[in-house]
Amino acid sequence: MSKTLDHTTFNVETIRKDFPILNREVNGKPLIYFDNAATSQTPQQVIDVIVDYYSNYNANIHRGVHALSQEATDAYEQARRKIQTHFNAEYAHEIIFTSGTTHGINLVANGFSSLLKKGDEIIVSALEHHSNIVPWQMLCEKTGAELKVIPMNDNGELELSAFEALLNENTKLVFVNHISNALGTINPIEEIISKAHSVGAAVLVDGAQSCPHIKPDVQALDVDFYVCSAHKICGPTGVGMLYGKQDWLKKLPPYQGGGEMIAEVTFEKTTYADLPHKFEAGTPNVCGGIAFGAALDYMNAIGFETIANYEHELLEHATHLLQQIEGVKIYGTAKHKTSVISFNVGNIHPYDIGTILDKMGIAVRTGHHCAQPIMDYYNIPGTIRASFMFYNTKAEIDTFIAALKKAIMMLS
Ligand code: ALA
Repeated sequence: MSKTLDHTTFNVETIRKDFPILNREVNGKPLIYFDNAATSQTPQQVIDVIVDYYSNYNANIHRGVHALSQEATDAYEQARRKIQTHFNAEYAHEIIFTSGTTHGINLVANGFSSLLKKGDEIIVSALEHHSNIVPWQMLCEKTGAELKVIPMNDNGELELSAFEALLNENTKLVFVNHISNALGTINPIEEIISKAHSVGAAVLVDGAQSCPHIKPDVQALDVDFYVCSAHKICGPTGVGMLYGKQDWLKKLPPYQGGGEMIAEVTFEKTTYADLPHKFEAGTPNVCGGIAFGAALDYMNAIGFETIANYEHELLEHATHLLQQIEGVKIYGTAKHKTSVISFNVGNIHPYDIGTILDKMGIAVRTGHHCAQPIMDYYNIPGTIRASFMFYNTKAEIDTFIAALKKAIMMLS
């Protein structure tokens, strides 16, 4: 999927200067941050936007006639339009600010609780994060709908023929992640969406792991709902977005009641505000929304194709070196995958390796990665997961490989 990278226009050392955290040491060693699938780091350009907001125009939005409130409202709504443009949504009001991916999924699940009934079926995939399993199980408990699962194979790819066999006129919803957080598999969502639509089912795509690497076009995908979090895309934590097709968002009832989401309130009856405000009760994360827009500006200035090509080089380099180490088993060898490597070494517990790597300044994630069904499939308690972003380097990967070899020697 990736082309050759033009190293004359992409200079990782210049990019690294944008990230102050990359200068710090951990346990006396230069930080090597390979836990990007959990959260990405924040460039100075986004930090500056956050400082500017709290230094100069911190105010509640949509509420005041005063200058600060107006400035904050304008910046927040401009961020919504940036997100609309980035994802190519038809209307700005199809972008709902959320606290993150999990919030977006729960908002949709809650909305469907009034639309589903016993006998309806919901399909999720075997590759899901718990946040794209538990809300649908809760929805099934509430409505009597039944949950079905698209199985995976040993490479960590979904079995599309099994998916087709699951689809029928009772299928109302299909939920799948664009990229698996635990294995890095890029799922064929175009095919999944079109097959689901052929039986009239709506599709929600969890884009938490794809948005840092791919620029999704929600209209070209014809996806019904798409969710992501800003903190995976060089933005702050606590903010994300739900894209929903206008028709669906009009159909779904509000998720939370409160200020800002109403048209008129009396004790007899309340009417709701138009989109997007119907789903945005209470004071939002104003600064977070504005910084989300700034993070997209930052990443678009580098370019998503450039990012994907460079990260593919990192993935290939790390995979090649890991495969040379005796006892290493990589989980997730899909043909299409992003810069995430999950692996184990012999019978050594992932936690032990993660702890020793941390002593050497290297941050990886260990455990089940909130995807226990995947670990159950492979019959393992968890993995060590190294996940790379465009500000990582091949030299960091070389240091990580040397540190890993040392850890293996200590633990064998
Ligand atoms: N979902 C995040 C991860 O995969 C936290 O690490």
